[in-house]
Amino acid sequence: MDFKNKDLISLYDLSNEEIIYILEKTKKMEEKIKKNKKINILEGYILATLFFEPSTRTRLSFEAAMQKLGGGVIGFSAVEASSVAKGESLVDTIRTVENYADIIVLRHPTMGAARAAAEVASVPIINAGDGSGEHPTQTLLDLYTILKEKGRIEGLKIGLLGDLKYGRTVHSLSIALGRFKNNLFLISPEELKMPREHVRDLEEMGVNVVETNNLEDVLGELDVLYVTRIQKERFPDIKEYEKVKESYRIDKNTLENAKSDLIIMHPLPRVGEISYDVDKTKHAVYFKQVGYGVTVRMTLLALILRGDIE
Ligand code: CP
Repeated sequence: MDFKNKDLISLYDLSNEEIIYILEKTKKMEEKIKKNKKINILEGYILATLFFEPSTRTRLSFEAAMQKLGGGVIGFSAVEASSVAKGESLVDTIRTVENYADIIVLRHPTMGAARAAAEVASVPIINAGDGSGEHPTQTLLDLYTILKEKGRIEGLKIGLLGDLKYGRTVHSLSIALGRFKNNLFLISPEELKMPREHVRDLEEMGVNVVETNNLEDVLGELDVLYVTRIQKERFPDIKEYEKVKESYRIDKNTLENAKSDLIIMHPLPRVGEISYDVDKTKHAVYFKQVGYGVTVRMTLLALILRGDIE
């Protein structure tokens, strides 16, 4: 399979076979890292991280991934630190940075920004989150986490809980999980339901979708519970956020009726929707999920810049 110089903008850009291939290569990458802390297969390559929105995990894990592969990193983590603050457009920023870097990882508040950047860029673009659109590398690391922790990525009962309206991670992830024939439970307050077009896409794929606003009703059935933060920054009216901000919270007591092998995932950051007392339970895998993110992103950088890897 050849990924050389391909953009990664949406989960729809990848076939199921390509997703499985990336996950298999990530397993191999994990074995290589265990043997050698650093693998210099991207020596001489430069990654640019252009983050027009805050990030801890995505930016730092991409930077760590590139450095572990022997490459260099440039970039900015806030608009104020770039000439965008002087009014420079996204297109001009991309056409400038492509002269400095071999690949660009872009996070932007506008849905569709990564696709627009890819249309003008001469180097590959990886979408690190475009508004409430998609976050495909998060989905790949989520799938890798499920594979590692549950042994498979198909035929599971998976609950997506929280802000399914604005949460880009669940938009990409639900499509991927649907494509691998998982049963989906979409659990959210009425105001934060999954956009109808995503539910329609899932139903057209033949996915069994249950929508509810009550976690208790379905918790006992779940193999995976994927919790998300309410995306305060995406609400057009802060009063609407205030109405729903405390509508769900998982703590140790919530999990009394859960399956003993339920795993709880979260893309992070969390802001109160999972109590700290859950962290020490056998269910919590969200910090392991963070760790898998580096390996998945190492694999993606190597595949896109080298075409394929051993
Ligand atoms: N999961 C995720 O995208 O985290 P950051 O916003 O910290 O990058």
